[in-house]
Amino acid sequence: MSVWAVLAAAGRGERLGRVADSAAGQGPAAPPSQDRPKAFAQLQGRPLLAESLERLEASAWVDSIVVVAPPGWEEPVILLAEELGCGKVVASVAGGESRAASVRIGVGEVPDDAAVILVHDAARPLVSEPVLERLIEALNEGWDGAVPGLALADTVKRVREDAVVETLPRGELRAVQTPQAFVASVLREAVADGDEATDCSGLVEARGGRVTIVEGDPLLLKVTTGDDLAGVESWIRGSEAR
Ligand code: CTP
Ligand code: MG
Repeated sequence: MSVWAVLAAAGRGERLGRVADSAAGQGPAAPPSQDRPKAFAQLQGRPLLAESLERLEASAWVDSIVVVAPPGWEEPVILLAEELGCGKVVASVAGGESRAASVRIGVGEVPDDAAVILVHDAARPLVSEPVLERLIEALNEGWDGAVPGLALADTVKRVREDAVVETLPRGELRAVQTPQAFVASVLREAVADGDEATDCSGLVEARGGRVTIVEGDPLLLKVTTGDDLAGVESWIRGSEAR
């Protein structure tokens, strides 16, 4: 059974750029920094992308990796993969305007005989082996898809303008992360339409696919702002010190 990982890394990182620019004294109204996309933001002296790339490379569950790169950064991605000794990286392709478009491009690089496609965000650097194992196990049990999720600490309310219109039952809610795993044929069909989805599972669900949730990992936090980047950095430093 071959497992392919599609690593979505094509985003611009506008919110991260905004923080960096205002820290540089240009003020919050300055346009986002465009000199380097989020995947190449520095995390402990190397690109953010390096962390997830290395972890997917080391995983016993992943056979091959497709990186969806920021347009114009396909070559630096290949050089980084070579530098890290990531021999599982078979393609680096330019992404699209939205995450969904980027994932569709990445899935297009996966050969027809792949059994499973894992979709992961480079913005979540700390992907771990136990999460990958839980996802693949769920597919082996017969699910079309599996996503990692965490119970919520906060109560969630639906609001319209200033008014609260509904309080959602917290016990039924999960915050969903990546990587997300799918039977390859199911994901292929799902990504063919729909550019608005923020996660692949939503597309699969909309088509009637059966998706299960497995225990997520608080360390799979998504790097959106400079504070997030600092948080991941301090966790890595702490884990190295142990
Ligand atoms: N992504 C992508 N292609 C896009 C947009 C996003 O591959 N056109 C990827 C990002 O690289 C990231 C993941 O999807 O790994 C989640 O997106 P997000 O955290 O929003 O990253 P950015 O879009 O880069 O950040 P921002 O929205 O602040 O610009
Ligand atoms: Mg975005």
